[in-house]
Amino acid sequence: MSKQATLNIGDKEYTLKILTGSEDEHALDISILRKESNFITYDDGYGNTGSCESDITFIDGDKGVLRYRGFDIAELAEKSNFLETCFLLFNGELPNSSELDNFKTKVFSHSTLPSPVEKVIHSMSGNSHPMGVLSSALQALGGCFPHLCTNTRPADIDSFQEAASLIVASIPSIAASTYRSSKGENMPEIGNVFSYCENFLHLMFGSASAEPIDSSISKALDLIFLLHADHEQNCSTSTCRMIASGGANAFASLSGAVSALWGPLHGGANMAVIRMLNEIHSAGDDGSQFIQSAKEGKSRLMGFGHRVYRNYDPRAKILKSACDQALEALGVESPILDIARNLETSALQDEYFIARKLYPNVDFYSGIILQAMGFPTNMFTVLFALGRAPGWLAHWKEIATNGKRIHRPRQIYQGSTHRPYVGLGDR
Ligand code: ACO
Repeated sequence: MSKQATLNIGDKEYTLKILTGSEDEHALDISILRKESNFITYDDGYGNTGSCESDITFIDGDKGVLRYRGFDIAELAEKSNFLETCFLLFNGELPNSSELDNFKTKVFSHSTLPSPVEKVIHSMSGNSHPMGVLSSALQALGGCFPHLCTNTRPADIDSFQEAASLIVASIPSIAASTYRSSKGENMPEIGNVFSYCENFLHLMFGSASAEPIDSSISKALDLIFLLHADHEQNCSTSTCRMIASGGANAFASLSGAVSALWGPLHGGANMAVIRMLNEIHSAGDDGSQFIQSAKEGKSRLMGFGHRVYRNYDPRAKILKSACDQALEALGVESPILDIARNLETSALQDEYFIARKLYPNVDFYSGIILQAMGFPTNMFTVLFALGRAPGWLAHWKEIATNGKRIHRPRQIYQGSTHRPYVGLGDR
């Protein structure tokens, strides 16, 4: 492969560098283009734009491959766990046992929320969505640890490990406190005998007597978090990197990423899937009428399609079998699971979905498991954020360490050309 390409505009010729990634992906480096030619590139929705070089996560959307730091997602799902995966994402390597113990100890030492964060959660309107609460609570958390969010580098980079373990520890507590507060309940004591996910389930649903949590349930939750841990330059991660590129600290960058994740085309899709399945169920449809309306463009089959995957999302494959196991362990019969299976089978055989390469994504099954575990629908995206936090943090660290310039895309202006101001009385 040549190391450069030639671009002709009119009678001028420009030489562009070719970048090649470690998985043999190629990109034209256009960074000199505007300076030399006065042209910018246009790419609505950034579908063809590489915003950075990164060594965290690799996706091959055509083949359905996802790897964190080189490790295949299916192998991590089988052999690793969420906290070990957090360490891997933060540090680039799997921990040895003392590194893992130290990391866990650090995370568990931060599980109790500082009282100002509790106050922020309780002071927000009962109508606030838990994602809005989480975004605000992350800012409040940073405010309680000013030495971890100075907005100066290298100080914020030096305190990254402390900030990262604090955030990983605090999001479950923020989620549980938000949920308990919405029900007018107090949080139970944090039990140190629990694993990360057992602790979270205990904070959410446990009582003071701290009855044991079924390990198959906490393992399924751990798997969901691990599968969501990173997904390279998606909307929320790019938002996190964008904020960080201006020099902002990790707490502020993650607070913005949470807002970006909230939307129904991104992390909010897991809520939208359940809403859609319930609507189909209450309309007495087995899914076939809904498929028809999606094909006619009257509705969207939520949990289907992906900007990058033009094949089965590898996370959806893993979650589909985890979903069966979790429902069996919980003894839950789910009529909406039957509808989901019908929708999937019909869509995968339908020319509309085949031609557009639309396959189930990670959200198609995650909501069904979370609902069976007892999580209310409006908490689903918070759980996505909990799982995605290590990815955001790893990207924050990467850009804080390697980023050279503030992120600032250009635009093609299509508005009014220059015109004189018209006074109020003349309008
Ligand atoms: N149902 C029906 N048709 C669809 C769907 C869907 N879920 N997704 C895409 N299409 C159609 C589009 O209408 C379009 O058809 P056309 O070519 O006839 O106009 C074609 O497929 C291409 O779709 P785009 O919108 O261009 O795809 P894009 O890459 O921009 O969007 C997205 C990807 C947002 C994920 C989209 O597939 C979607 O809305 N899916 C449902 C929401 C969802 O599940 N989001 C979760 C994404 S994964 C995540 O964030 C964890």
